[in-house]
Amino acid sequence: MVNDKARRSVIQFEDVSFEYPGAETESIHHISLDIKKGEFLVLTGGSGCGKTTLTRLINGLAEQFYEGTLKGRVTLLGRSISEYPLYEIGKKVGSIFQDPKSQFFASITEDEIAFGCENYGVPYEELDGRVSSAIKRINGDMLRGKEIYPMSSGEKQKIAVASVNAVDPEIYVFDEPSANLDMYSVEALKNLMGGLKAEGHTIIVAEHRLYYLTDLADRFLYMENGSIPVCSRTPC
Ligand SMILES: Nc1ncnc2c1ncn2[C@@H]1O[C@H](COP(=O)(O)OP(=O)(O)OP(=O)(O)O)[C@@H](O)[C@H]1O
Ligand SMILES: [Mg+2]
Repeated sequence: MVNDKARRSVIQFEDVSFEYPGAETESIHHISLDIKKGEFLVLTGGSGCGKTTLTRLINGLAEQFYEGTLKGRVTLLGRSISEYPLYEIGKKVGSIFQDPKSQFFASITEDEIAFGCENYGVPYEELDGRVSSAIKRINGDMLRGKEIYPMSSGEKQKIAVASVNAVDPEIYVFDEPSANLDMYSVEALKNLMGGLKAEGHTIIVAEHRLYYLTDLADRFLYMENGSIPVCSRTPC
């Protein structure tokens, strides 16, 4: 449990609301939230309550890709998220989307895992080491040199995690990572998340299924209609 009040805040929401372009109502209403370094936070709640949108406010997509209206302030590692170029946010916040297919650029595993690093200008001599250590992190030796397209959902998700891991962000955001997984893959996911947590990463997971997260989570936040009811406007 993260109880240490002196622990560094990595993400802060101050009375944050967000409305998508052309939407009739805000998808996030007046959320205040303080996420500490190394914390494992689970966002849960019914379909459409705003879990994915909250993750998009953390990885910058809500304002910079979806171009909606952000009110209040989201602070990432001490700086307003609106001041970061999206590209910079990606170095600090790694995202694993609900459908990992949507985030692949290459067709072969190692190429995909190296892609983010290449994009961020990681020196060529470092690439092999980063890819190997990311493959080790996902326990993925069997996946080396394979085509991604025919892989199972669990394997694709591991490649998505490895691609993020190779870039080495401080924060990981998972959006419904168990949605397409069988029970064995959920167990593998749980172990993978446990490893990331043990390394000190801050982890935010939006999920419906909670059973596999009970040993990992420091905090569960229940969302309803774009709000976190018990927290109201004070940081929780
Ligand atoms: N790109 C978008 N444009 C307009 N409205 C959107 C967009 N994405 C989400 N919304 C709306 O924002 C609200 C919150 O949606 P969001 O996807 O964040 O919920 P969720 O809790 O992740 O749902 P689910 O459990 O189904 O994934 C919903 O009313 C949804 O219709
Ligand atoms: Mg969602």
